[in-house]
Amino acid sequence: MRVSIASVSLMAVGAQAAKLSPTVQGMFDGHMGNMDQIFDSTAGYLYNFYYPLAAGPHETRSTVWYAAGLLQRNKGNDVKNAVRIINSVIDGQFKNKEDQWYGDYQKYPEEPTVGTAAYEPSIYDTWDPNWRGFIGSALMIIYEEFGHLIGKNVQHTIAESLYNNSIGDSYRVGGVDNDNLYPAYSNPSLMRAVVSGWAGRKFNDKNMTAAGEMYAQEIISLFNINDTLSEFNVPTYYGVSLSALTLWAKYMPASSVMAKNGPRMIEDIWTAFGDFYNARLQNLAGPWDRTYGWDMNKYVAIMSLYIWSIAGRDHVFSSSEKPWLLAHADDGEFVPIVSILSSFHNTLVPASVVARLKSFGRSERIVHRHAYSPPFDHQVRNITSWLSEKITIGGDSYNQTVVGGASKDSNSFSPAIAHWYRDATKLQNSSVGYFSLHPSEKSLKASVGPHWLNLTYPAGNASSVFTFAVSSNPLGGTRDVTGLASINGVSISIGEGSNVDPTPKVSFCGLMGGDCSPIHNFEFWNLTFTMPAKTTALPQLNLRFDIKA
Ligand SMILES: *[C@@H]1O[C@H](CO)[C@@H](O)[C@H](O)[C@H]1NC(C)=O
Ligand SMILES: *[C@@H]1O[C@H](CO)[C@@H](O)[C@H](O)[C@H]1NC(C)=O
Ligand SMILES: *[C@@H]1O[C@H](CO)[C@@H](O)[C@H](O)[C@H]1NC(C)=O
Ligand SMILES: *[C@@H]1O[C@H](CO)[C@@H](O)[C@H](O)[C@H]1NC(C)=O
Ligand SMILES: *[C@@H]1O[C@H](CO)[C@@H](O)[C@H](O)[C@H]1NC(C)=O
Ligand SMILES: *[C@@H]1O[C@H](CO)[C@@H](O)[C@H](O)[C@H]1NC(C)=O
Ligand SMILES: *[C@@H]1O[C@H](CO)[C@@H](O)[C@H](O)[C@H]1NC(C)=O
Ligand SMILES: *[C@@H]1O[C@H](CO)[C@@H](O)[C@H](O)[C@H]1NC(C)=O
Ligand SMILES: *[C@@H]1O[C@H](CO)[C@@H](O)[C@H](O)[C@H]1NC(C)=O
Repeated sequence: MRVSIASVSLMAVGAQAAKLSPTVQGMFDGHMGNMDQIFDSTAGYLYNFYYPLAAGPHETRSTVWYAAGLLQRNKGNDVKNAVRIINSVIDGQFKNKEDQWYGDYQKYPEEPTVGTAAYEPSIYDTWDPNWRGFIGSALMIIYEEFGHLIGKNVQHTIAESLYNNSIGDSYRVGGVDNDNLYPAYSNPSLMRAVVSGWAGRKFNDKNMTAAGEMYAQEIISLFNINDTLSEFNVPTYYGVSLSALTLWAKYMPASSVMAKNGPRMIEDIWTAFGDFYNARLQNLAGPWDRTYGWDMNKYVAIMSLYIWSIAGRDHVFSSSEKPWLLAHADDGEFVPIVSILSSFHNTLVPASVVARLKSFGRSERIVHRHAYSPPFDHQVRNITSWLSEKITIGGDSYNQTVVGGASKDSNSFSPAIAHWYRDATKLQNSSVGYFSLHPSEKSLKASVGPHWLNLTYPAGNASSVFTFAVSSNPLGGTRDVTGLASINGVSISIGEGSNVDPTPKVSFCGLMGGDCSPIHNFEFWNLTFTMPAKTTALPQLNLRFDIKA
């Protein structure tokens, strides 16, 4: 390493672990207990906990989150284990400057060498460029919060690791070498900016510092269009973005655009979140730019962990007390990061939003926002949602370069969705139903108002389809869905002005079979509306939703 670390940067930080509220402490202890059970103390890594479970291998990213948790807990061998993890992970960091994956970290320690004949470098598969950001920001938290526990040598190793990380991350240019890191890819770009800004300052590297400020400014300019992240209304990745913005606000010097804008951006994200959140349904109303499920009661969305930390356990995952009953349960491994940052971050959540996390209140509302994700959006997206206590409907008007939006993924882009409250049956507690458009076109106009979801494809034709992913009815309800009339808890009718064939094709995308596959482990009914042959009018489908009395 040529450069030497600036001496000012090694000041001792507070000698205490972050102070956790009793609520956060409860969440932290529970999840650390889960992770203790998958920690392999011989290897010094957590086992891989993705679904489907891998037979044996470990995993790097969650292990670093766990290391932060170990330092926070600081009991028995915790510090020793954490230091061992930090050294192993940085030892496995890619060290050849010529490689596109330079400065990134192994996905798991037993993986074959990336770039060998048997293990081609395949971005997001054999190596994941976003892990520079994920692991880099966790290491930064460790350096900043727990320097007194790990000592100067380990701190120095971390700083050097982040310096290399930042150089490797500077190779990322959206649209080049199969990379997609545009400023609009909010969560990794927020992490990249802070890792560069931090490492540049630590090593007095003015170019690296300036690069971090420049990345940050690009994100801020997009944000300022309507005080929203480009990666808008995302139950999982909002949580990652909020943690990155907390690093902007907490660890950058006052002169940085990150320190100047981080707190306001955190507040604005929460303000939007509060506007779109329905505490009765315990779901963020759609539309969502990216999602890993259609009902936040049934999978671990990182925002649910934030809600837990702010409003308490009673306000999330109503349908399950047990994490292993939820899809995407591995995202619970992010809890140490949410917890350690909570005492700083949670003070930035406006009180009016905290109230909305706890209770819907009585009055319904309509919410409008805009978001913009160049180069995938030809125009700013216009988002409208109507929220009432027992039904929410949201829609996104967009014109994009690819089907599936910025992540090019029809399974996670959810541009029009309704949710409703379902009463308990004899066999199942009250629950939430959903009706979600599965995107098949590059442009959509969605018009949303009380009870209505009106959709048209401005570039559609007689071949266009409207496919909806629809929840199965609760246990004790109608088992076989044959059309709109057999969806329980809600009455859905096709309104005037629609020109689709009113009888949808119905298929089941089931865990054990059917005509199509589950998405993100959610099985669903597929209701597909087609156009009468030879229609020349633009496809239009106007749907009205009412709670069934
Ligand atoms: C940083 O990268 C250089 C090679 O570019 C390598 O020699 C050094 O060991 C790396 N530092 C760490 C902490 O991995
Ligand atoms: C300055 O930083 C940018 C972005 O990180 C990088 O592309 C460029 O090569 C750096 N230039 C020098 C002279 O280090
Ligand atoms: C955001 O959009 C709303 C609705 O169109 C508008 O009222 C508001 O002024 C916009 N805010 C900004 C910061 O552009
Ligand atoms: C159903 O509700 C009851 C009463 O609130 C609760 O004790 C039970 O845990 C719930 N069951 C499930 C599966 O969530
Ligand atoms: C969003 O609204 C703006 C202003 O009304 C309009 O210019 C733009 O075309 C709309 N975007 C889409 C994708 O419909
Ligand atoms: C949707 O279409 C229905 C039926 O034509 C109409 O009554 C309603 O006003 C429309 N709502 C919105 C928000 O566009
Ligand atoms: C979408 O944007 C492109 C590029 O500006 C334009 O050519 C096209 O007509 C737009 N599509 C719609 C449906 O507005
Ligand atoms: C509708 O548009 C698609 C894509 O532009 C085209 O492939 C298809 O042939 C068109 N169908 C009709 C019936 O015009
Ligand atoms: C939904 O069903 C249609 C057939 O009606 C099929 O073409 C389409 O692939 C299915 N979509 C999904 C997401 O399963």
